[in-house]
Amino acid sequence: MSEKPSKYYVTTPIYYVNDKPHIGHSYTTILADVLANYHRLLDVPTYFLTGTDEHGQKVQQAADANGITPQEQCDQTVVRFQELWKRLEITHDDFIRTTEERHKSVVQATLQDLYDRDEIYKAEYEGWYCVGCERFFTEKDLVDGNCPECGRKVDSIVESNYFFRMSKYQDWLIQYIEENTGFIQPAFRANETLGFLKNKELQDLCISRPKSRLAWGIELPFDSDFVTYVWFDALINYVSAVGYKSDEEQFKKWWPCSCHLIGKDILTTHTVYWPTMLKAMGVEMPQSIFAHGWWLTGRTKMSKSLGNVVNPMDMIDSYGVDAFRYFLIAEMTLGQDASFTEEAFVKRYNSDLANDLGNVASRVLNMISRYCDGKIPEGVKADFDTMLEDALWGEVTAVAENMTAMISDMKLDASVAQVMGAVRKINVYLQERAPWSLAKENGTEAQVAYCLYSAAECLRVCAALLYPVMPEKMLALRTALGMSDAKPQMDKLTKFGVLESGAAVSQPGALFPRIEREKKEEKSDEKPKKQQPPKKKKEPAADGLITFDQVMAVNLKTAVVLEASAIEGADKLLKLQVDLGDEKRQLVAGIAQHYKPEELIGKTIVVVANLKPAKLRGVESQGMLLAASSGDSLKLVTVEGGIGPGASVK
Ligand code: MSP
Repeated sequence: MSEKPSKYYVTTPIYYVNDKPHIGHSYTTILADVLANYHRLLDVPTYFLTGTDEHGQKVQQAADANGITPQEQCDQTVVRFQELWKRLEITHDDFIRTTEERHKSVVQATLQDLYDRDEIYKAEYEGWYCVGCERFFTEKDLVDGNCPECGRKVDSIVESNYFFRMSKYQDWLIQYIEENTGFIQPAFRANETLGFLKNKELQDLCISRPKSRLAWGIELPFDSDFVTYVWFDALINYVSAVGYKSDEEQFKKWWPCSCHLIGKDILTTHTVYWPTMLKAMGVEMPQSIFAHGWWLTGRTKMSKSLGNVVNPMDMIDSYGVDAFRYFLIAEMTLGQDASFTEEAFVKRYNSDLANDLGNVASRVLNMISRYCDGKIPEGVKADFDTMLEDALWGEVTAVAENMTAMISDMKLDASVAQVMGAVRKINVYLQERAPWSLAKENGTEAQVAYCLYSAAECLRVCAALLYPVMPEKMLALRTALGMSDAKPQMDKLTKFGVLESGAAVSQPGALFPRIEREKKEEKSDEKPKKQQPPKKKKEPAADGLITFDQVMAVNLKTAVVLEASAIEGADKLLKLQVDLGDEKRQLVAGIAQHYKPEELIGKTIVVVANLKPAKLRGVESQGMLLAASSGDSLKLVTVEGGIGPGASVK
């Protein structure tokens, strides 16, 4: 296990307020939130900073287009970010706006200090400027006459400006990156920056804009005709927010930053401009700068002009905040690009959240209600074999113990996959131990109690490990398990026996109701739609073929046989009680000549779950099981191990 850090300071980029937030902004902010939550779970003092980048040409242009002042543009747009963070349950400790006095004064003090020490000088500049990237380029930088970063058209510029002596730090920076593996992550991004630094001579950085061209910025303290270049202003937010040049104690407490999270498109500004600025300021380097990949729509870049930008608010409205957070974390391998389609979202939701996690939770809680009077049972070992329980606990706690290392290695997708693996193991364990069968034997109360206590304890651990990703649902699950303390704590996590025997459990309702989605000819970038009610079953077509919709109207589910018995006076029928995941049902099936009742107990069968109840020989049947028959022989349709009751069969 890797050492836990003594403190954790994490940042997101500060977002431009020229437009409303989209999935890229949401992703970095959720990622930072999950990392902050994990560190809080580990009891590490944590500081999480986000905010908005409010100066510069982009914001000025948006204000002009909207016919408002730049300050109005900022004030109107910043609330959209703040509202979204609230809905996404983001727990930032500070939200910095670069138009705030506390930031502007630090930028000015920093500029003055650098100017006084000749780190900044005035000179004539001739070059090319990309408004989209807010960056200057030399003739040599251009690719086919366009911006080397984004490919857009650049403007020719000749003007007097102030420059930061960035070029003199080139060799130092190469050496620093080479000596400090982990400074830029993932490693291939460090190589990208090194390639950039080694292949060409670093230029000094133009850090001013004449007010005659752009007035929306922080005025240079030593020349009122100029404002500060927006990147020089923005990067300083990472130190101005934690007390640099204003609150020494606070600054010492949080700096150096543990992790600057960024998207891959802003690698150069963060791994070349920012370190050289800090070096000139005499400030320690951040511990790491982590560049994540991009969310694509299918395989295409998201862009407003293509109309394929995912709106986070729509996703939350349709599927809930926790599911959205879960999908983003589980689906993207940090560092690489990932694809966002609603289809992939629904698939992952149904398999991980509805079928696995939701199903295990409802099974455990239902069985505690049924067999233990709705109270957390005694978790005491007695004279019975607990090999299965010991093995399960070992597997679940191993995941918990691995967590710190996974988080510090930024393997978030793999870490939630491991927890989901543990959830599935609880399901398999229940299948093997079959407490519903045990409960029918005499003298097994203690064993049933221990079985359900163990399953509940394992569920508690999984819920805590998923809490940083899905805070709302996992708190609901903890409450359902009868826990009174609000947030989970890591140090208690792997101790067996935390759940209090006798505490009343409750049913939180379906934690993650299955999303039933009609198959439709749709583009993967289509706007998310709310769940539709199933279409009415139509008569088969004259050619005897049925439509896809008709197939989908039949709701097939897995069920576990809990009880089976003969029906008096009906030698072909058996009466079964089955567990359908969220509920118990009675079925009557014509299988008595092929199966003895006791052979059926514990089998996972397939049931038509939305069949109208009917009476057979006076006994109600609330569904129909599937079986294959050939001649005199009949065999039940069963599923292979690893799938619990209530799973959908398609
Ligand atoms: N204001 C600068 C950052 C200054 S930090 C000192 C900026 N702002 S931004 O609003 O344009 O972008 C913020 C972040 O959103 C960037 O990290 C960018 O990578 C990320 N994303 C924008 N679109 C994205 C996706 N489609 N997918 C993932 N993240 C992407 O840059």
